[in-house]
Amino acid sequence: MSAVLAQRLANVTGSATMKVAAEADRLKRSGVQIVDFGAGEPDFQTPQHVKDAAKAAIDANFSRYTNAMGIPEFREAVCAQYKRDYGIDCTVAEVVLTNGGKQALFNTALALFNPGDEVITHAPYWPTIPEQIKIANATPVIVQTKPDDGFTVHPERIVAAITPKTKAIIINSPCNPTGSLTDVAAMTPIVEAAAARGIWVIVDLCYEHLIYDEVDHNLPKLLFDKHRDRSVICGSLSKTYAMTGWRAGWTIAPKDLTQAFNVIMGHTTSNIASIVQKAGVVALNGPQDGVKVMLDEYRRRRDAIHGWLTANPAIKCVKPRGAFYLFPDISELLGGEVKSSSEFAQRLIEQEHVALTPGEGFDAPGYLRISYATSMDQLREGATRILRLAEKLQPAKAGASR
Ligand SMILES: Cc1ncc(COP(=O)(O)O)c(C=O)c1O
Repeated sequence: MSAVLAQRLANVTGSATMKVAAEADRLKRSGVQIVDFGAGEPDFQTPQHVKDAAKAAIDANFSRYTNAMGIPEFREAVCAQYKRDYGIDCTVAEVVLTNGGKQALFNTALALFNPGDEVITHAPYWPTIPEQIKIANATPVIVQTKPDDGFTVHPERIVAAITPKTKAIIINSPCNPTGSLTDVAAMTPIVEAAAARGIWVIVDLCYEHLIYDEVDHNLPKLLFDKHRDRSVICGSLSKTYAMTGWRAGWTIAPKDLTQAFNVIMGHTTSNIASIVQKAGVVALNGPQDGVKVMLDEYRRRRDAIHGWLTANPAIKCVKPRGAFYLFPDISELLGGEVKSSSEFAQRLIEQEHVALTPGEGFDAPGYLRISYATSMDQLREGATRILRLAEKLQPAKAGASR
């Protein structure tokens, strides 16, 4: 089979999170009560006023193709949001609506990367980022971040990875899976180094509204002030408004690159769904208080599950500053009966019926990614089951190392 596939897919691997979702689904369908920590999506419902806008769009027969870049109303709403949140003035000519943040990043990779280009990003990472770089035949250059300082992206390490082949730097903040933030102070030297060398800076701000504490995270303004002609901002409705299945995101990029995105959209998906566009306008322009309600609830859950799991000293875990994932280091539990975080995750689903994604999928063996976008009861139950497996492994490991 592989002989018939295009070369560009040779080193590309499937989504680890989607594999977990498929396995969890299979078990659920066979009647097993799964505690599902695998899902990278809110458990809240899409706000009622957004759903109503979609229904109204259907009833008004808003069912034809639109401009491939999206309707001006939605693109204006994106500009208004960035004005409101970050104080920047972008124009509709710089905005393209995409099928989620994923397509925003993919259009960028397709429009900018050539074979032989290097693209710097940080690990542990959301796997789509390096895989898309590879699909575009470029080479991901990975800069590791470490748990000792909360997986902070150190600008000097990013800058040190720049070579004459570097085409772009991709920063994901808040970061999936670590929950770390790259604030303005950390981002400034990266942007300055990129500006001095004509390197593109791409920011994935998919979780931009899920930040727990006051921090200067005005990356859009920094990019607009210092590097507007070579920056791409990728955003999404998915996590902010609990709209993962609707598939709506966007790029904000210089006009000529935006025109290239228009060409890509025009020859691939065309516009994102017309109905979704009408709903998106209302999501961005309507009341925003629901976002805070979700954030407060995520904070409560984060604190709870973090406390429960770290009651076992063999489970080390940084408290995430954004997004909704816990990323514990379980390496102290490995090396006996269970050798890797993948094996741990496998055993967890088989014996305790808890689904989560092992760190291997994020270039972080020895870790687990737990999505706490689920109810407090499920979190309590899942934590109990994880701790039960951890305790079973501890004596086995002590025995093995004697
Ligand atoms: C870091 C990150 N960026 C972008 C996305 C894209 O999300 P969507 O395509 O649903 O907007 C995700 C989804 O999980 C993500 O985790």
